[in-house]
Amino acid sequence: MIIVGNLKMNLSLDEIISYQKKLINSGIIICPSFPYLNLFKQEGYDVCAQNISEYNNGPYTGEVSASQIKSLNVNYVLIGHSERRHVFKESQETINNKIQRALENDLQIVYCIGETYEEKEQSKTKEVLENQIVSVFNNLTIEQMNRIIIGYEPVWAISDGVHPAETPTNQEINEINLYIKELIKKSFNFSIKVLYGGSVNLNNIEELYQVKSHDGFLIGGASKNVDDLLKINDKCKQ
Ligand code: PGA
Repeated sequence: MIIVGNLKMNLSLDEIISYQKKLINSGIIICPSFPYLNLFKQEGYDVCAQNISEYNNGPYTGEVSASQIKSLNVNYVLIGHSERRHVFKESQETINNKIQRALENDLQIVYCIGETYEEKEQSKTKEVLENQIVSVFNNLTIEQMNRIIIGYEPVWAISDGVHPAETPTNQEINEINLYIKELIKKSFNFSIKVLYGGSVNLNNIEELYQVKSHDGFLIGGASKNVDDLLKINDKCKQ
């Protein structure tokens, strides 16, 4: 099981230092904010950047490039996260550019996809996911696909950072996981790994863990508390 903790824009330096000590040897892939990436990397943790620029190095104030991330020996990057798509209005074209930059720099990608509440209500979930997948997977080699893990995160299930949101039922998650895996197998002849994300927490992990078609979890809000994240991780190893 792959467990990824997405800290989003949280925690001060002091908080990160005590957080880091507790996380040691957990096997969790941690996504801290940019200023803390190196702190984790230097100590040998599996680290994932939360974002990269769609551009190569150059006059792009405030951006961080894929090659800069790679120069820290960071292994992973999140691309297409719903907060990037919806709060920062990243288009699929921008996301595709970021995927290219990440691949050029040999980063592993957690490619986040998911439908909004409105799309779900209009029964467009599979269509939306298919578009998000095909747009990226078209024209990739098997070697490049090998660098991608899908993070299925229904936008409506992602917490507001304070309160967990509603999560899909296990049956719904299973159906979507299988849909994603079969689509990529059928269209691109590749067996992809899929993580579920969206309000995963200590209260629902035992139930969500019962879904056998996913390969792990992408945990946002609940990962701010390192003790909770470690307990979630332990439950996924039982
Ligand atoms: P959440 O976030 O666990 O707080 O819902 C998941 C994510 O945004 O990756």
